[in-house]
Parts: sequence; structure tokens; C-alpha cells
Amino acid sequence: MNEFVELMTTRRSIRKFQPKMINNAELDQVLYAGLFAASGMGRQPCYFIAVRDPETRHLLSSMNARILGQPSIDPFYGAPVVVVVFADTASPTYLYDGSLAIGNMMNAAHAVGLGSCWIHRAKEEFETQTGKMLLQEWGLPETVEGIGHLILGYPAEDEHPEAAPRREDHVVFLMEKKQFPALVDVLTEDSVVFHGTATDKPGAIREAGQIVVDLKCVGDEYIDSMLKREADFSTYLGNGVSVAHGTVWGRKRIRKTGVGLVRFPEGIDFDGEKATLVFAVAGVGDDHMDLVQQISVAALNDSVVQALNEAEDYDAVKAALKNLRLYK
Ligand SMILES: Cc1cc2nc3c(=O)[nH]c(=O)nc-3n(C[C@H](O)[C@H](O)[C@H](O)COP(=O)(O)O)c2cc1C
Repeated sequence: MNEFVELMTTRRSIRKFQPKMINNAELDQVLYAGLFAASGMGRQPCYFIAVRDPETRHLLSSMNARILGQPSIDPFYGAPVVVVVFADTASPTYLYDGSLAIGNMMNAAHAVGLGSCWIHRAKEEFETQTGKMLLQEWGLPETVEGIGHLILGYPAEDEHPEAAPRREDHVVFLMEKKQFPALVDVLTEDSVVFHGTATDKPGAIREAGQIVVDLKCVGDEYIDSMLKREADFSTYLGNGVSVAHGTVWGRKRIRKTGVGLVRFPEGIDFDGEKATLVFAVAGVGDDHMDLVQQISVAALNDSVVQALNEAEDYDAVKAALKNLRLYK
């Protein structure tokens, strides 16, 4: 494993420290890593107050403990140094920026042999009168918010916390393993209706669904599954486009991949939005999601939507969808 990545995976929160003060060179490196954290639009809204002074450390610990509701404990676990990180709320990404700076510093601390832990409640701490007074004393703008404290010190000899097992299924890979059929090829001449007759949403979904039934992609029951899916979650995509498709139950019964498209020039009311293009998707296996995605891409493209709304024949529909795919 890459040395840097390994460092990030072996960092643990340290909650037992040697009383010994850390040296300035180590502290500087940690702060330097914080200064170089990424920030939204490079605004650098973070401020770092590095507290080595025992009096100030004690004051912050007491304030934090009070907010925690346990006034007699030291929430900083005896760590000799506390870095309080603030970020200017004038920056819309301040909370992310401040958190990222603390993340950078935790990893840097581990890299230089220090133990660290993020200690919460900085926001509340610096909303108190005492907190506000400290901000003024330290010359920070009134618009800053406390993001967190990073406690630093040499880990106690017997402090070797283990990482909790990582959560399963929290990483999803979407790989480009298979080439899926392009919407332009799936949408045949038989699958486009230029003048839908339905007047409401269920009728429009039935009408579009009937196309994939007639194409023998699915049985009649698929239409009910589409209506159920619609009741659970609206398939209206925006820009006048809806992509009706079945539930997981219905999808298991798809025999052949097909797409229907019904155009409603007057628009069908989809929960307050007007859909002029109602697609019905029935895709075998992973074709299904890919076709839904292709239609979602089409719906985001104003010129494609306009061309589909204005197409006078099937060739014009094909021309509108021809360049939808990045690959074919
Ligand atoms: C936003 C945030 C707030 C935290 N607040 C506290 C805290 O107040 N006290 C504390 O002991 N640990 C705190 N932690 C540390 C977490 O408990 C710790 O990161 C977590 O248990 C995972 O352990 P690890 O850092 O060793 O991977 C905080 C961590 C984060 C990210």
C-alpha cells in the first residue's frame, strides 16, 4: 500500500497522552498541513488558534466540559496542546473547509508521531460570552464559527486503539463493464406515438406502458408495476420529460429490452408539472438502469427535448437522440 495511504488508515483517535509538551517543529508541521487543506473556491476561510498555554487550555477545557454537561471532566483527555479551528461563515463552504483542515491535521499529526483527536462543541463554546470575548482577544472576525478542537500530544505508552471494522456495502462501484444498447437503437418506429390520447398521469403511463407490452417486452402486469413505482416515487425528470418504469418486482419479468415514447403536445399534469414526453422503459438486467440514465441525460439537454417535442416523424426522433451517448 502507498505509504501515505497507509498512514491515513493507521491513524486513530488518541485519548490518553503523556504529559510531555510537544515540540514546535511538530506543531508547525501539523498546522502547515491544515493551512494547505483544500477549500471551496480556494477561499481559505479557516483560522487556527494553537493553544500551548496551560491557563487558556484549562479555560477551554472547562467551557467544553460544561457544554458537555460533565463540568468535572477534561474533555481534552490531558493532551498538552489544543488547536481550535474556526472558519468564516461568510464562505458558503466554511463547514466543509474547516472539517477538511482538521482531517488534514489529524493525518499530519499521525505522520509526525503525534496522537490527536477531534473534540467537538467548538461552535457552542464560542457562542458563549466568554467565547466571544476570546475571539475578540485573538483578533478573529465576528463571522467565524468554531468548527472543532484538535487535541495533540504524544500518545501514552499503553494507548493503541484499534480501528472499528469498516462498514460493508458503503462503497458502490459503477464500472463501465458492459456496453448497453443506445436509446436511439432501442426506440423503434413502433415504439413512438406522436399524439397521445390520455388526459391524466395514470392514463399517460398506461399508454406508454402499452407500447412495451405490444412489443412483447413485458406482460400486462408490468403496467401495474409502473403505476406502483410512480406512486412510490415520481418519475417526472423535469423539462417536460417523465421516465415511467416498473418496480423491482416488475423488472424481473421483463422478457426483452424495449422503450416506448408517447408525446402529449398539451402536456400531462405530473403532480403540478407538465410532461409532454412520457417514456416507458423495460430493460433486461442492467439495460434497464442504463436506459433510464440515457433518458435522464436527454431530459437535461434543452435542445434534445425541443427536437423531440417538435419531431414530425420517426427520423427526426432518431436524429434528436443520435448523439446522446458518449460511447456506442
Ligand atoms: C466531527 C467529529 C467530532 C468528534 N468529537 C469527539 C469528541 O467530542 N470527543 C471524542 O472523544 N472524540 C470525538 N471524535 C472522535 C471520534 O469519536 C473518532 O474519530 C471515531 O470514534 C473513530 O475513531 P478513529 O478516529 O480512531 O478512526 C470526533 C470525531 C469527529 C469526526
